Amino acid sequence: MIPILDLQQQYEQIKEQVEKEVLKVLSSGKYILGENVNKLETDFANYCGVKRAVGVASGTDAIYIALKALDIGPGDEVITTSFTFIATVEAISYVGAKPVFVDIDPNTYNLDVRELEKKITPKTKAIIPVHLYGQPVDMSPVIEAAKKYDLFVIEDCAQSVGASYKGKKTGSFGDIGCFSFFPTKNLGAAGDGGMITTNSNYIADRILSLRNHGSHIRYYHTEVGLNSRLDEIQAAVLNVKFPHLDRWNSKRREAAYFYNELFKDVKEIITPKELDNTECVYHQYTIKTIERDKLFNILKENGVMSMIYYPVPVHLQEAYAGLSLMEGSLPNSEQAAKNVLSLPIFPEITRDQQRKVADELIKALNQVLVRS
Ligand SMILES: Cc1ncc(COP(=O)(O)O)c(C=O)c1O
Repeated sequence: MIPILDLQQQYEQIKEQVEKEVLKVLSSGKYILGENVNKLETDFANYCGVKRAVGVASGTDAIYIALKALDIGPGDEVITTSFTFIATVEAISYVGAKPVFVDIDPNTYNLDVRELEKKITPKTKAIIPVHLYGQPVDMSPVIEAAKKYDLFVIEDCAQSVGASYKGKKTGSFGDIGCFSFFPTKNLGAAGDGGMITTNSNYIADRILSLRNHGSHIRYYHTEVGLNSRLDEIQAAVLNVKFPHLDRWNSKRREAAYFYNELFKDVKEIITPKELDNTECVYHQYTIKTIERDKLFNILKENGVMSMIYYPVPVHLQEAYAGLSLMEGSLPNSEQAAKNVLSLPIFPEITRDQQRKVADELIKALNQVLVRS
């Protein structure tokens, strides 16, 4: 079976160092907000080219806390895409604001900047562009619109750690960048974790307080916060993995280009498009194809795991029935949900494994074409 991702193989490369660092934390007796979190925050801020980075408990919390730190709440509207993991939208709902969806560009699966201004109303307070699958959003028009209408920008970088646009890392364009260290991410912890980046000392200090019960001084609380800290064990694991990130991302890119080569003569397989001036980190290698569900099943029967990110756009999820957005309201997002298929991609994937994926997919495609 070719897995969609092979975390055990990655672990084998760094096992010794990870175990050493985790054991050090265990014997230190210092499990919350210690030197590992400090080190990761400093290195992460430097890496992203921002002033500050603050560790939190998950990517979902990162977005939730970002919205809180910008005082976004009931009566406000926040623009994002519906073709994303639900967490982006949940965070908006959690602060009591209304999510407003802009359709995606079918070529990049990211927010369609041409549609953005149409969704801005006097209630709009922020835009959350999602760098889906590791492909940076075309940020210049987003930042321009935000300036023109005086809106905040919170980048959802859960899938884009290390990706860059016009030579700058994602997470450095908006007022705030939000990252996830969920284990399957390009930089994954051994559990949940997240990071917030910002160039504003004011916002960073507010987030430091919000993540720790609204408190800078122990048992003195200046506002209602929550418990959302990145813990020392997760930070220790991430400190070991972080120096490998650029190499791992390069390997993902090489693997993506190899798939592009393998599929270049197959017109039924639409391979991912990269925008000019961007460096995508291929959190996913996602194709668009016909008869997607049948292909998924045939691949599985033949030892190739693929995944569908995401089969239902958020506006059509039961949890968001209250928004009363019907099928047809975001046609490109709905179409993508029907056609996308993510193929195995991870830094250690071999060219033979990729050839097998491509062979099985092309065979499956011929099978469904003959039947139809
Ligand atoms: C686009 C996107 N946003 C937000 C999140 C939330 O991150 P987490 O799972 O760390 O809460 C994820 C991760 O799954 C994601 O893919």
